Amino acid sequence: MVIGYWLLVIGYWLLVIGYWRLVISDSLPVTSYHLPFTSYQLPVTKFEMANLVITIDGPAASGKSTVARLLAKRLGASFLDTGAMYRAVTLAAIKGGVDMSDEEKLLGVLDNRKFQFAVREGKTVVCIDGVDVTEQIRRPEVTANARHIASAVKLREKLVEMQRQFAAREKKIVTEGRDQGTVAFPDADVKFFLTADARERVRRRQAELRAKGGGESLEQIEKAIEERDKSDEDRAVGPLRPADDAIVIDTTDLSIEEVVERLLRCVEEKCLKRNQK
Ligand code: DC
Repeated sequence: MVIGYWLLVIGYWLLVIGYWRLVISDSLPVTSYHLPFTSYQLPVTKFEMANLVITIDGPAASGKSTVARLLAKRLGASFLDTGAMYRAVTLAAIKGGVDMSDEEKLLGVLDNRKFQFAVREGKTVVCIDGVDVTEQIRRPEVTANARHIASAVKLREKLVEMQRQFAAREKKIVTEGRDQGTVAFPDADVKFFLTADARERVRRRQAELRAKGGGESLEQIEKAIEERDKSDEDRAVGPLRPADDAIVIDTTDLSIEEVVERLLRCVEEKCLKRNQK
């Protein structure tokens, strides 16, 4: 009799708790019962079912690659370095002695060679026909000639198509480049445009080159960056510019960690809004 009474009491409370977890907690604001964002997870399980595309565009040496890579890691998303794609085709064209002004021949380079991109230990690894060219695509002659590939209309279209295929295959991506928010992913969930004043970008590029043993002067680096900015901005296809709905962040006085935190906060806010709709 007594045991029956206690079984009834326990059963009643189990039912109450079960109901609370199933129904009531589902209507609470997401952050209050899902993992906090800083645990490198998106806040809502429902949300993880959907695709997430985050674009980061910006000029050379604005820090977008480093930030995009770290953001992808924090979100458990795949990272796409679209600049590496342009660089890889540029390198293959240089090696093949292709006339850089001949768009059809440049397109042939993309069609006839096998390009592979992967991220290993946070670094974008690039192979052409099975040969690792990760270091070679960063060479100054590749940087200087990439503008030819970047302004070849049909080639650009194909690269954008590849980027979209990548997004379709992966569930969540953080992609960085020049036209990701404007052309490749106009419907991206969150779009960023990173800037930094010219002097700071020159300083950052110099530090990067020095770390690799490069001895370019500040003037040389400044001139190269100015030329790239101009060619990226003036290009008829996929020019460098922020999307109308991009969040513009000036990183001049911010550390990498501060930029990543700021971006994470924006993603969190947008995700929450999206899930509340
Ligand atoms: O970001 P990066 O320096 O690795 O880019 C290499 C070149 O590719 C640079 O000339 C700009 C161009 N690019 C582009 O036109 N569109 C992109 N989405 C990414 C890079």
